[in-house]
Parts: sequence; C-alpha cells; structure tokens
Amino acid sequence: MTEKRSSIHGQWSSRFIFILAAVGSAVGLGNIWKFPYITGENGGGAFVLVYLVCIALIGVPIMIAEILLGRRGRQSPINTMRSLVQDEQAHPAWSLLGWGGVITGFLILSYYSVIAGWALAYVFRAASGAFNGATAETIAAQFDGFLSAPLSVLAWHSIFMVMTMVVVARGVRGGLEKAVTFLMPALFVLLLVLVGYAMSLGAFSEGLDFLFSPNFEKVFYHCEVTAAGVEQCRFTGEPMLVALGHAFFTLSLGMGAIMVYGSYMPANASIARATFAIVAADTAVALLAGMAIFPIVFSNGLEAAAGPGLIFQTLPIAFGAMPGGQFFGTLFFLLLVFAAWSSAISLIEPAVAWLVENHGMKRVSAAVLMGVLAWILGIGTVLSFNLLSGEEFQLFGKTIFDLLDYLTANILLPLGGLFIALFAGWIMSRSASMDELRMRDGMGYKTWSLLVRYISPLLVAIVFFNAIGII
Ligand code: PFF
Repeated sequence: MTEKRSSIHGQWSSRFIFILAAVGSAVGLGNIWKFPYITGENGGGAFVLVYLVCIALIGVPIMIAEILLGRRGRQSPINTMRSLVQDEQAHPAWSLLGWGGVITGFLILSYYSVIAGWALAYVFRAASGAFNGATAETIAAQFDGFLSAPLSVLAWHSIFMVMTMVVVARGVRGGLEKAVTFLMPALFVLLLVLVGYAMSLGAFSEGLDFLFSPNFEKVFYHCEVTAAGVEQCRFTGEPMLVALGHAFFTLSLGMGAIMVYGSYMPANASIARATFAIVAADTAVALLAGMAIFPIVFSNGLEAAAGPGLIFQTLPIAFGAMPGGQFFGTLFFLLLVFAAWSSAISLIEPAVAWLVENHGMKRVSAAVLMGVLAWILGIGTVLSFNLLSGEEFQLFGKTIFDLLDYLTANILLPLGGLFIALFAGWIMSRSASMDELRMRDGMGYKTWSLLVRYISPLLVAIVFFNAIGII
C-alpha cells in the first residue's frame, strides 16, 4: 500500500463544503442555458429520457471513479494520473488523461465565458426595465442587436473572465469555498420562484408534456420526402451523442474538474454518497430550469428549437409581461451568472493546480495566465455570432463556437470519461479502489464495478462510434 497523500493546495473544510463546491461546478450554464436549448432542438421528451439514462448509468459511476482518482492522487489531474500510474505500475500513456483534461477545460472556458458574458449583460438589461411590455419582435431585435456588436460582447466576456480569475487566484479555501457557500443556496431559491411563476401559466402542462412525454420516432428518425414523393426515414444516432455529451458536460465529468475537487476532499467522506447528492442536485436544477422555461415558451407561442439564444429571446418576453417582471428578470439572469461563475472556476482549477505544482507559479499568476489564454480564444466565439457567422467562415457547416462546443462536449469529455472509467475499473487494483471508496466487497461495490468496467465504457463507445459513423 502506498502512503496516504495530502494536497498542497489545502482541503475543503468539510464533506458538506465539498458537495457544495462540486454542485457549484456541475450546476451552471449547462443546466439553465444549454439543457433547455438542446432539448428544444432535439424534440423534447425522448431526448430527456436518453439524457437521464446516461446520467444514471454513465454519469454516476464515472463521477464516483473521477472523485476516487482525485482523492487517491491528491494533486492536479496531470500529477494525480502520474502518481497513480506509478502506484499501479501502469503504462505511462495513461498520464495523457490529465493533459487532455487541462486542454479541454481551457477550450470550454473560452466559450463558456462568452455566454456567461451574455447573461451578465442581461442582468443590467433586465434591471433597466428594457423588457417591460416588450413584444416578441422587440425582444428578438434587442438580442440580435446585442450580438451584432462584437465590442460590447467582448467587454462582457472580459468582465466575466476577470471575475473567474479573481476567485481562482484566491485559492481553495479563500476563493472557491466562500463563493460556493454563498452562491448555491441563492440559486435554488431563485429557480423555485421561477417555476412558481411558470405554474401560473396556461401552458404549464404543455411545457411538462414536451419535457416528459417521449416521442422516439420524432427524435431518432429523420424523414425526407424524395423527388418521387416517397417519404424516407432513417435512424440517426446524433441526438444520442448530444445527450451523452451533455451528461458529461452538465456533471463536469471527463476533464479533471471533479477530479481536482476530489483531491481536496476530506479523507473520511463517502464518495458514493457525495456523488448521489451532486447528481441529484444537478439533475433537479436542469429539470426545474426546463419546467420554468418551456411553459413560458409555449404560452407565448415561441420557438422551442431557437438554439443558443433560446433563453435570451424567450424569457425576456415573459419578464416583460408578468407582474414584477423587472425584478424577476434581474434575479433570473443574476442566478445564471452565479451558476456560471462557480462552474467556470472549476474549468481552470486543474490547469492552475498543475502550474502551481510543477512550475512553482503563484496561484495568482497561474490564474491570470490561463484566464488570458482562454480569453483570447474566446474572441473566436464572440465573433461566431456576428463578423464570422457567415458560411464562408464555417467548417463542416459550423461556426467557431459550434466547433468548440461539438469538440469538447461531444468528443473530448466522453473520451476522457471513457478512459477514467477504464482506469478506475481495470487498471486500479480492487484493494485500492475499495480502500478509497471506504467500501467492502458488497452489493454497492459490485454494482459500481460492473458499471464502470463494462456498462459505461460500452455505452459510451457504442453511442460515440455510432454517431461518428464508424458502427
Ligand atoms: N457543468 C458545467 C455546466 O453544466 O454548466 C460546465 C462544466 C464545468 C463542464 C466544469 C465541465 C467542467 F469540467
């Protein structure tokens, strides 16, 4: 047995704070901005069901695996993987997992900060009363006008990136912990208020229907009428890949964020129990966001498949029409910024922890370095919605933002997760994983082991290879 390690970056002061921090990482734009718009684009209920299955069969066991590796290694993902490779005398190529995570986190942060900047701008817009009494057209025009001015979008992106760097620079105890203790409870309360409002709308049940009654044909068969007037339908695995990728994205899995948070986890806390709490909270927030947003979409005759602008083009109409809308609108976008903030800090923490460990950098310099690099790449996303939105600037029909989103959520995170599962299930010795999970060889451990060794890797591989056309 190897000696127990401890983290040079400090530790969460309690099990509860670890859960809050991990929930802070998991709950973010993914739940409130992305989940509703990809659900809208992918036809609703059946997509949601596949997403929930991915969460249960893939997300839960892989989150346990990722926290387990982090707490065992007690360092940045790169060094954690290096140490575990030595402990288990595994092939050094496994260390690449840590590197992949650092790169993925940096790529995600670049566009994440831009979208969070949109939300930040909308806090002030809502507070100024710009939505009061506005029609669907004026709201759409406001959003288009906002996106078409790259300099102001860039300014909001910059402000959000600075906010992220400040918290990361202050470190685990000083920065992250204070932020999450205050952010998370506020978020839950604000979301409940919004669902309360949605319940008062005539289209509440229509919204629920859209979210929860699965229509598999609509989602998985794409039909076209041929020149001869015959309707031809074919199966498409793409929504499945989007649901799988989103399960990783929303739970912050597959890139070392949860691993690095796990490395600050107190030794006596149960990893499995913490995982259930984190997954339950994350899923609840996404479903609540859907329950708040879709009734508003339907009661105003809006487009569910509007894309990344969905919440910005639809919700302001509702805020403009409802009593107290100026107040609720401001709160809503504030909530979104808080949620994004506590996620963004976890996106660069793996890289910052590594720069501190291996390059003797101060946290402040490491946070600034990573933040500035991600900020520069983020300019590509800022321009994806204006100067570079045209077809001549697209690759495979995708803008820079679309490419970054597709590459990270649908490819890099599932691949990272697959290798995390394989490492925890096949490479790490059973005695090491049982010891770290504080479990005996009972039902719980056996179920996890089955899921992480066979079921999750197989499901990830099948969905992945099917969608990219290999099987
Ligand atoms: N889970 C975050 C969200 O749902 O918004 C996004 C995210 C954070 C993804 C951290 C990945 C990550 F490592």
